[in-house]
Amino acid sequence: MTDREAFFTVYHRSLPRQGPGHLESTARALFSIPTLVARPQVLDLACGAGAQTLDLARLLPDATITALDAHAPFLDELGLRAGAEGVADRIQIVEGDLAQPPDGPHDLIWCEGAAYFLGFERALEQWAPLLAPGGSIALTEPVWLSTDAPPRVRACWGAYPDLQPLSVRRAQVAAAGLALHADFVLPDRDWWELYYSPLEARVAALRAGAPPELSAVLDAAQEEIEVRRGWAGCYGYAFFVIGLPEEPR
Ligand SMILES: C[S@@+](CC[C@H](N)C(=O)[O-])C[C@H]1O[C@@H](n2cnc3c(N)ncnc32)[C@H](O)[C@@H]1O
Repeated sequence: MTDREAFFTVYHRSLPRQGPGHLESTARALFSIPTLVARPQVLDLACGAGAQTLDLARLLPDATITALDAHAPFLDELGLRAGAEGVADRIQIVEGDLAQPPDGPHDLIWCEGAAYFLGFERALEQWAPLLAPGGSIALTEPVWLSTDAPPRVRACWGAYPDLQPLSVRRAQVAAAGLALHADFVLPDRDWWELYYSPLEARVAALRAGAPPELSAVLDAAQEEIEVRRGWAGCYGYAFFVIGLPEEPR
């Protein structure tokens, strides 16, 4: 088993979500957009197996959604889920790179739990020009919520590129010349209900007889979960809902 196979075996396949999130948070972000058009064209970047893609399809019955991810097995899973929910005709599934998204204009660019692959500022820089007039970007990003996270937390989350406090991200939105419609920290429920609880069950089920590559990934997953149990106040995931600046009249 390769390290990559071990990673996808533990973390992702057939889990409800591939990162923290929840229908209610997706809805809260969505409905904080003041300029949402009636029949939006949505681009869901790094959709994974499509948890938020399907939530968006439910919340926006007249939307068409392009769902893009780099990992083909997730896209297969999304295709099956979309068919089962009867929304496959409104979801175009694309294997691709979030650094090279399809040309716009898009009314809404969505990205839960993956903008950090590109970097927050670069994501804004590259995605904002693809928006239609009045368009918005909604993304979730891990953030520091305290300045004194202990070494165990820093060791666990230090591997993520560039965790920053909320205030730094807000300033970066302003510096990019964009408008911040809303931001909020995802509640703890969003970590457990559809992500860590099923992940922890998966970790336990895969333990017996796991080869070394798999054991290493299982240990890392369990450590991430234990760190969340102990220090949820130190860090979180935040939704940022960002719009184009208003045109001068
Ligand atoms: C933490 S998961 C989030 C998935 C999903 N949005 C969710 O919240 O359940 C990160 C996703 O980013 C995808 N990914 C990583 N790098 C990517 C890239 N360069 N282009 C497109 N997708 C990428 C992974 O395949 C994975 O599906």
